[in-house]
Amino acid sequence: MFFGLFKNKAKAEPKKLFYTTDIHSHILPGIDDGSPNTEISLALLSAMKSWGIENVIATPHIAEECFENSTYTIKCAYEKLSTYMLDMGIEMPVSYSSEYRLDGGFKRLMANNDLILLKNNYLLIENSFVQPPIDIKNIIYELQLKDIKPILAHPERYSYYQRNKDVYGELFDAGCEFQINLLSLTGYHGEREKETAMWLINKGYISFVGSDLHHFGHVDAINRFLASKEYDSIAERVKDIIKNDELK
Ligand SMILES: [Fe+2]
Repeated sequence: MFFGLFKNKAKAEPKKLFYTTDIHSHILPGIDDGSPNTEISLALLSAMKSWGIENVIATPHIAEECFENSTYTIKCAYEKLSTYMLDMGIEMPVSYSSEYRLDGGFKRLMANNDLILLKNNYLLIENSFVQPPIDIKNIIYELQLKDIKPILAHPERYSYYQRNKDVYGELFDAGCEFQINLLSLTGYHGEREKETAMWLINKGYISFVGSDLHHFGHVDAINRFLASKEYDSIAERVKDIIKNDELK
């Protein structure tokens, strides 16, 4: 029932997203707070395809207190989805990495060089939403010593940074790149997140946009955004400053 979008063209073509490589999503089945099973994974991929996404990088959480994933569990989930897609005759380029929470577990993974890198040695990292990692600048530096380029996921969502925007400039100057959430641009995460995302864009701090897609509530929000009047102006503002395609 979910597979119609792969086969049938809608009568009225919906607007497409302003990028075709999505570098942040939770569409691997059953290993974090994203898709619970392969059927839902395919339905989420189907929605992404309808937006014009051509390459999907799945980035399940690795966070020691809530998502005890590893390179192995992520690989297994990816293989499960790949097998299911093959069985269903569905082709869509999907690869995987992870969204690494900056916690004690991450430091061990970093020390063991057990990190699933994105193309060109990029790595997607995230903070706790409760408090900032006190040593984030050291972590950025240690990653750079390993020739790894950190991308901080959804900087606009951390309330402690929203209240102290100077930190954004400090992290940017330290060489950390930023990925804002498409969902923040839709207003889904709140007005403050949307304002902060636009502020970051206007400061020239943004390198990437990601869907951070977890579930159908997110799909609905993005569909509404694509149909909205403000979509065109935001897309025009952002499309030429991001480099998502470098990671395809
Ligand atoms: Fe995420």
